[in-house]
Amino acid sequence: MDQNEEFISAAQTATLERFEVMHRAPSNIALVKYWGKHESQLPANASISFTLSAAHTITTVVFEKSNAPKVAVVLEGVHTPAFEPKIEQFLDRIRLYCPFLKGYSLHIDTTNTFPHSSGIASSASGMAALAMAVVSLEHALGGIREEDKKRKASFLARLGSGSAARSIEGPIVSWGEHAELPHSSDLFATKFTQSHDIFQTYHDSILIVHKGSKKVSSTLGHSLMNNHPYKDARFEQASTHMSTLVHALKKGNLESFIAVVESEALSLHAMMMTSSPYFILMESQTLAVIKAIWAFREETAVPVCFTLDAGANVHLLYPDQYREPVHQFIEQVLINYCEDQFYINDRCGMGAE
Ligand code: PMV
Repeated sequence: MDQNEEFISAAQTATLERFEVMHRAPSNIALVKYWGKHESQLPANASISFTLSAAHTITTVVFEKSNAPKVAVVLEGVHTPAFEPKIEQFLDRIRLYCPFLKGYSLHIDTTNTFPHSSGIASSASGMAALAMAVVSLEHALGGIREEDKKRKASFLARLGSGSAARSIEGPIVSWGEHAELPHSSDLFATKFTQSHDIFQTYHDSILIVHKGSKKVSSTLGHSLMNNHPYKDARFEQASTHMSTLVHALKKGNLESFIAVVESEALSLHAMMMTSSPYFILMESQTLAVIKAIWAFREETAVPVCFTLDAGANVHLLYPDQYREPVHQFIEQVLINYCEDQFYINDRCGMGAE
């Protein structure tokens, strides 16, 4: 049987006139990065992430039966037609698995807890919240059992934005098949349940060194991996990194955790700098922050490290017991590299609600 088949809903028809639901879904930050994909949003390598908490999206969806179904998106209280084609594309991709959607108009009202111009991608949290809403409707129609909802939501979220699959659960989630991860799948993300306690309460302070949206979309970035001269070496490295990181997460080995996480961030950006066409998403402040973190770690032995997303902002990762010295370091040093001195203190969270 095609593995996708289990996700085709038993609910074929829309029997409710109207259904309204609100969901909250967080963003996430990858430790081993997903960069490169195949058809239908399948990852070229397995990835693993911390689910965040403060940075999240709250979405209310009203599904209403209609003879002429349409989609309306209201973002931060303002009707935003520019977002509607992306939602229509997502609905087209999931229609096979959610046939009951046919005949419903969707009114989507969404807000992010982080500023729009902060450079934090809202696609992971936004798509995860929307996927949860669709699965809630499916449940109300009797098409899915309560215990299967999160798996299906992750499966659907993946079809909207790959990394969104990892925003349904928390605090540590993997996506993509890997020998070290039993029950892992390319189709949906799963919770990593064997982590040492120290990683359950990890902090992520997001230093906004550059506000504004990304210059290169992740869709383009992923596609440039198809003909990348280093792609085989990169996918092999990601797999080795995953094995090392899984062991570090189980044992609470911070030294090994730091070595993998920082190497992953730099490898992601090295792929960007060596693709054709090449591009750079880091800013000079990004490098200044990285060097300051290295100097601080050397001097104080505080196990703080950095990671980067597909952008210039720096995520500072550290255990709960070191929050005071790290916050002092941010306030005294790193804040000066942030645009308008802006940063967000976030930490691991439990996923969508
Ligand atoms: O989910 P996408 O298509 O926006 O890709 C996300 C890619 C990275 O954020 C750079 C890495 C990751 O694993 O989240």
